[in-house]
Amino acid sequence: MKVAASILDCDFLHLSVELEAVTEAGADAIHLDVMDGHFVPNLSFGVPLARAVRRAVTVPVHSHLMVSEPEWLIERFLPYSDLIIFHIEAAEMPAQCLETIHSAGKAAGISLNPNTPVESLRPLVAEVQDVLVMSVYPGFGGQEFSPESPGRIREVARLIKETGSNATISVDGGLNPRNCAIVAAAGAQVAVSGSAIFHSPDYAAAIKALRCSTP
Ligand code: DX5
Ligand code: ZN
Repeated sequence: MKVAASILDCDFLHLSVELEAVTEAGADAIHLDVMDGHFVPNLSFGVPLARAVRRAVTVPVHSHLMVSEPEWLIERFLPYSDLIIFHIEAAEMPAQCLETIHSAGKAAGISLNPNTPVESLRPLVAEVQDVLVMSVYPGFGGQEFSPESPGRIREVARLIKETGSNATISVDGGLNPRNCAIVAAAGAQVAVSGSAIFHSPDYAAAIKALRCSTP
């Protein structure tokens, strides 16, 4: 699997050092967990940080917008993101979100919380480039991987096949070297990981383990 490093739990006092270390260690992308304190019970960071990260790295930047009314916020992140992921639970007009992202030539992702039916993705799944399956309730790093996630990943994989979508499947929340193989076997291509990387003494070893020897 590819590994997208969520910087939510990195050392922000030394952000540029952390970004260099994690990209040198092999992270395929930097994952920005943008939280508004409304859609999720936490407030993280916004556009100024996304701008700084974009300047600091050459790997793709994925902005995971855990925000209410993403319609108006997406535009602010477009210049700094290669992939913008919004939540199906938060978007009143998901088609408009996709239009805004695609007309800027960027990739669009849709995310769903653990209690949101996978079937709710059906109208959009053929239009997005990534489905981000939340394996925790969003808002915090370091949470436990929810056990029903592999079944949900398989359901998303079936939906992608049925609809002829070419979306990748990413998984976000509680991933570690012990559960990443289950996630890969269920059909995921990208592991989003924060604490399993940034709480580890060896970022390269952590990323290698999270790949669980799949491409
Ligand atoms: C939840 C965040 C986290 C983060 C990864 O809102 O999206 O899932 O990316 O956190 P860890 O890998 O520490 O569970
Ligand atoms: Zn995330």
